[in-house]
Amino acid sequence: MASESDVRAQLQRAGQEHLLRFWAELAPGPRAALLAELAPLEPDALREHCRRAAAAWARASGPPPGLAARLQPLPPERVGRARLCDPETRRRWEEEGFRQIALNKVAVLLLAGGQGTRLGVTYPKGMYDVGLPSQKTLYQLQAERIRRVEQLAGERHGTHCTVPWYIMTSEFTLGPTAKFFKEHDFFHLDPANVVLFEQRMLPAVTFEGRAILERKDKVAMAPDGNGGLYCALEDHRILQDMELRGVEFVHVYCVDNILVRLADPVFIGFCVLQGADCGAKVVEKAYPEEPVGVVCQLDGVPQVVEYSEINSEVAHLRGTDGSLIYNAGNICNHFFTRDFLQTITRDCEPLLQPHVAVKKVPYVDEGGNLVMPLKPNGIKMEKFVFDVFPFARNFVAFEVLREEEFSPLKNAEAASRDNPSSARRALLAQHYRWALQAGARFLDAHGAQLPALSCLPPDGDPPAICEISPLVSYSGEGLEMYLQGRELQSPFILDEEQARVLRLLEM
Ligand code: UTP
Repeated sequence: MASESDVRAQLQRAGQEHLLRFWAELAPGPRAALLAELAPLEPDALREHCRRAAAAWARASGPPPGLAARLQPLPPERVGRARLCDPETRRRWEEEGFRQIALNKVAVLLLAGGQGTRLGVTYPKGMYDVGLPSQKTLYQLQAERIRRVEQLAGERHGTHCTVPWYIMTSEFTLGPTAKFFKEHDFFHLDPANVVLFEQRMLPAVTFEGRAILERKDKVAMAPDGNGGLYCALEDHRILQDMELRGVEFVHVYCVDNILVRLADPVFIGFCVLQGADCGAKVVEKAYPEEPVGVVCQLDGVPQVVEYSEINSEVAHLRGTDGSLIYNAGNICNHFFTRDFLQTITRDCEPLLQPHVAVKKVPYVDEGGNLVMPLKPNGIKMEKFVFDVFPFARNFVAFEVLREEEFSPLKNAEAASRDNPSSARRALLAQHYRWALQAGARFLDAHGAQLPALSCLPPDGDPPAICEISPLVSYSGEGLEMYLQGRELQSPFILDEEQARVLRLLEM
């Protein structure tokens, strides 16, 4: 192991020797831990990281000038619409997606290295239970959707197929995620097909370019953003693993969208048939100034432009049909070919520009006291997964219905949106709709029929509690055989066992 004097010399070269200022006070254990953390920080890279962070912060002052004139929406031929296309086209996309899944060419990749600071729990967000009757966590819902999509593809093509699940974690999430999966027997997936790997961490930096100590013996480190994916793929030889398995297409998604359709055959099929190397699912923005990134073109090149970079006038622009021109809200649901990921990791990663996130970073002051700052005091440098869009040769976007596919869990309950209640409501409302579409009717305690959702306010609770296991239905398919003509009462839980009972009743 590196000695204190080696590390001190390294830090001096990087201009960061203050990180050892409490050395004399530390016991042997904390000293060893601090050295282990500091030794891998290569001095020139550390110096450069701190310099770039401070410089980027000093530069980052609102929307770049002249941006509006350089923006364009994506050309219409690059955008598919699940809602507006005819059923035959949709069927063709879905069929192609299932075909690729059945050929074992599709993998899913979960970005789960975030710290979930807004939600404010001490464990990885995927372990969160939003309060469904089944008490399923986000990880469990996702695992079950993988099992169901494998089953559907296998049934259509008479094969047994696998959708490997790659999960990018970070120092914060790797240990607890691995433990959680083991404790839950990998939710009945084959552990060989669940590949956890870890992204890199970077020091948080003050506005003056000094790395921050969060304890006397610990540097404040943060994961390098979900765009850390590309270094992590290389660090852990993940693309080689994909190649060995024959994977050609990868669906990358965020942990927090409770409605996410893993390996969505319609999206995969659309992208494959378009010959795309890179694609993004989008939803129509809910209102002009909604804080979501917009998928569009900048100087003719596909990009996600952050909401904070688009001025209000541009955000409100409407086309002749009255719809917003910059309407394609990014929902962190991406399609990549393995070849494209190979090009990125091999050639383009160093060209990706980190973004500045200004955060409240707890630190120790000169006297060694822990300070919880009340306003942002530190810079975290992050890359974003969508930073690679400009390198695509054939980029496509695919618009889907928000109420069917997007409800992110970002905030704690106290926030007005994107919180545990809104995520739970979105899933239960969807399942209530699916049940009605399959021909069920819900009755109240007095036998009166409950209304359809279309008669209710969009973000209210559904009139009855209905939860359908992803193991029974992935996207609303196949429910008629259980529900057609049935009168149901709240709460109604359609899990595998209940489905078996209902099927027996039919016989
Ligand atoms: P968010 O930007 O919502 O961040 O991440 P977060 O860490 O989950 O939550 P906050 O901002 O601290 O409240 C979007 C997705 O990117 C992943 C997250 O796990 C989530 O799936 N992510 C984020 C990473 O995988 N690595 C990172 O370094 C950051």
